[in-house]
Formats: sequence, structure tokens, C-alpha cells
Amino acid sequence: MSECKHVAIIMDGNGRWAKSKGYPRTQGHLVGTDNVRNIAIAANDAGIKALTVYAFSTENWKRSKEEVDYLMKLPFVFFKKFIDELMEKNIKITMIGEMSEIPKDTAKVLQKAIDQTSSNTGMVLNFAMNYGSRNEIVRAVNNILNDVKSGKEINVTEENFNDYLYTNNLPEVDLVIRTSGEQRISNFLLWQIAYSELIFTDVPWPEFTPDKFLECLDNFKNRDRRFGGIK
Ligand code: IPE
Ligand code: IPE
Ligand code: MG
Repeated sequence: MSECKHVAIIMDGNGRWAKSKGYPRTQGHLVGTDNVRNIAIAANDAGIKALTVYAFSTENWKRSKEEVDYLMKLPFVFFKKFIDELMEKNIKITMIGEMSEIPKDTAKVLQKAIDQTSSNTGMVLNFAMNYGSRNEIVRAVNNILNDVKSGKEINVTEENFNDYLYTNNLPEVDLVIRTSGEQRISNFLLWQIAYSELIFTDVPWPEFTPDKFLECLDNFKNRDRRFGGIK
């Protein structure tokens, strides 16, 4: 039985959940944001070392301006409500994704939370924000080319390629959970999930409770991970 160090969640279904209740899509995002706190606390209490949450993809810019603007305001809401509790729990905030394309005030509030929690030694709560895996891989290749141009001698290996990814400081992704029924990856951590276990649940993100999260961890415990070998 292998330890589950790093869980990555595709938090999907906010819009459909809201629609089913007769609310605007934005209400789903608001309730979904509160739920990041609930699941982060549960994960931290369960001894998970890193929790990556897919908050905004490089493809989500295709949505209406109204929805994108709303999503970009959510970090303000989240950290205003929960930063004290996250500090108490010793949780460290990090971010993966292209920060330079995020509205300046949103980037600022994210950076503030990253700085404020940088000495915390508990679970890493890692926000994938303006994150796309293809973008991450192309960026890594360009950074390698730049290093070579500036005289560095590099023999690219799986290990040092990893160093060029946003996730270079995080443990391997053990488990990916996607809520709300879709069974796809949607440009999330393509390199990193080569041998991750996958769980797809029909529960929409706003209704994905800590108990359901713990059920996923139990399910993971029963998986037989072979990594290509024979047991
Ligand atoms: C996930 O919920 C949140 C983001 C992608 C930002 P969705 O907004 O994708 O909700 P559905 O899939 O439309 O229900
Ligand atoms: C994936 O959900 C992105 C996030 C959860 C942030 P989407 O709702 O954007 O994915 P698709 O469009 O259904 O593949
Ligand atoms: Mg969706």
C-alpha cells in the first residue's frame, strides 16, 4: 500500500450545480470556493502533503467576460475569509500557472498569500491558476533553450526536465480526482500524472464533502500500483 502524498483535484461542476438549483453560475463558483477551504482542511488533517486544485485553466478565458471577471475576484474572497485559518493550520499556499497574464490585483492578492504562508511547514495548498499543461511543457522547453543559449550544458533527462516544470518542488501526483461526471483531464498536469491513480465522481464540486474526499482516499488505499512492474 503506497502513501498518498499529493492529491490533485479538477474541481468541476460549479456551473451545472448552480443551474440545477436555479442560481446564476457565479453562485456555484462562490460555494465552490468555500469548498476549497473544507477539502484543504480535511486533506491537511488526513496527512496529505500537497493538494493541487485546478481553479482556472488556460482555456477558461473562452468564457464570458462576466464569468472570467467573477472568477478572478474569487482569490480576494477566499483569502479574506480563510487566510487566518490556513495560517493556524500551518498550510502553505503556492501557485502554478502563468501569473503574468492574470489581472494585476488578483496576482497581487495571490502573491500576498504565498508570501504570508511561505514559512509554513504543513500541507501545501497549490492553486492551478491560469494553468495549462501544454503551456507548462512548452514553457519548460523554451526555458531549457534559453539556458542552453546562455552557455549552460544540458543533457535533458526525465529528472531535470521535471525541474523546469511549475511543479518542481512538489511530490509526485498520487491521485487525481475529478468531480461532476466528466471523464477527461482537460489539460491538467499531463506530464505529472503519468502513473497517478484516477477517480471520477458524479458529485458536483460544491457538494463534494470532506467525507466524500476521505472515501476517495480509502479507494486509493485499495489500488494496486505497479508502475509497469509485476507484484
Ligand atoms: C469548474 O466548474 C470551475 C471552473 C472551471 C472555473 P465549471 O464552471 O466548469 O462548471 P460546469 O462544468 O460548467 O458545471
Ligand atoms: C477544467 O474544467 C478546469 C477547471 C476545473 C478549472 P472545465 O470545465 O474547464 O473543463 P472542460 O471544458 O469540461 O473540459
Ligand atoms: Mg466544467
